Amino acid sequence: MDVGKIRRDFTVLNREIGGKLPIYFDSACQTLRPKPVIDAMTEYYESFPSCAGRSVHKLATEVSLRCDAARSRVADFFDAESPTEIAFLKNTTEGLNTVIFGMGLKKGDEIVTTDYEHNSVHVPVVQLTKTVGVRHRMVESATDGTFDLERFEKAMNKKVRLVDMCLTSNVSGYTLPAREVVEIAHSYGAKVLFDAAQAAPSMRIDVRQLGVDFMAASAHKMCGPSGVGVFYARAEISDRLTPLMFGGHGVTDTDYASFKLLPAPERFETGLQNYSGIVGTGAALDYLSAIGMDAIREHEISLNKRMTRALVDVPGVSVIRPRDPNVRGGIFSFNIEGLSAHDIAMILDNSNNIMMRSGMHCCHTYFHSRGIDGCARASLYIYNEAGEVDVFTEAVSDLAAKFGKSS
Ligand SMILES: Cc1ncc(COP(=O)(O)O)c(C=O)c1O
Repeated sequence: MDVGKIRRDFTVLNREIGGKLPIYFDSACQTLRPKPVIDAMTEYYESFPSCAGRSVHKLATEVSLRCDAARSRVADFFDAESPTEIAFLKNTTEGLNTVIFGMGLKKGDEIVTTDYEHNSVHVPVVQLTKTVGVRHRMVESATDGTFDLERFEKAMNKKVRLVDMCLTSNVSGYTLPAREVVEIAHSYGAKVLFDAAQAAPSMRIDVRQLGVDFMAASAHKMCGPSGVGVFYARAEISDRLTPLMFGGHGVTDTDYASFKLLPAPERFETGLQNYSGIVGTGAALDYLSAIGMDAIREHEISLNKRMTRALVDVPGVSVIRPRDPNVRGGIFSFNIEGLSAHDIAMILDNSNNIMMRSGMHCCHTYFHSRGIDGCARASLYIYNEAGEVDVFTEAVSDLAAKFGKSS
């Protein structure tokens, strides 16, 4: 993987901010966008700025063709059986909500999650427990921070209709054993929804091989534009989901008293869509595919190993488990005793232009249940390089030595 060449595609990495180049370690929040993606989006606005699936003129036809091509690109990327299994939504959150509220779950039905879900899973599930009386079961993590398959199996029963889990944690970077989860869930007759917001940018996901029923991810974490979610719903069951929104384009026909919904994916794509975003998403997946998902994963882990090796034994620095960087992809979450996570992030931004996220990362339950106030998170991606990791580890070691409680 030629990181130097990749970096040249990201204008922002090559512009000094306050006299120094930025070190962007916040890709788990949002990745940067390469020039080909920006060009594809600009091309939409300059060359065919119309809407898809409605008018029959030439510009509209061009948009329809480009959006169809982008849908096929996403389907190929995740190895879906058909492009009709892919809907373009706003983000991961919308895909997750579409399943959680669209399955028609009733009082007494059960949903099983991990105990480290992002609020985009946790909050809609809790809402459903309140409004409908669905029961929410959580699988407690093992002490080393990994997913406990035995506990999962114990949580399962025939009332579980949905297993809704974060494939890769945005706090620890840990990826659960997806194939086993699907097998166990299906053996109880439950459907599986994977929150792939963090997994999709960093590993190869083959939905058919996994056998997963539904999956949601966000283009903005995959070098794509903001405001586009990719949503997978397996063909045989996608039309059983009720959409979150109703209106134009999602229906085949209406009369004064009723309407007929279109089949998936159109039923989920109500109203005029983010066409430049959809076209840009296709370009982003082309970009990632040209690098190769296995190469991306390998690159992230190699940087994470370097980071972990340099910091794991520094007095006062604690790493969010699991400790092994081989199972944490590109995420290194940590604390320095005596400093708040926001202090760490602000100081490193001021001193070295190191940009990362701090706080509870939309995972309040993770931190409350473990008695931690939050953490700082460095998240690595295709454009990061070893030299940046070294600047970071030196700065964190200095910080721990000068201001940490154990110094
Ligand atoms: C694991 C996980 N799930 C869900 C989301 C929500 O994604 P979005 O804000 O794109 O809907 C995020 C965002 O950071 C995430 O990391």
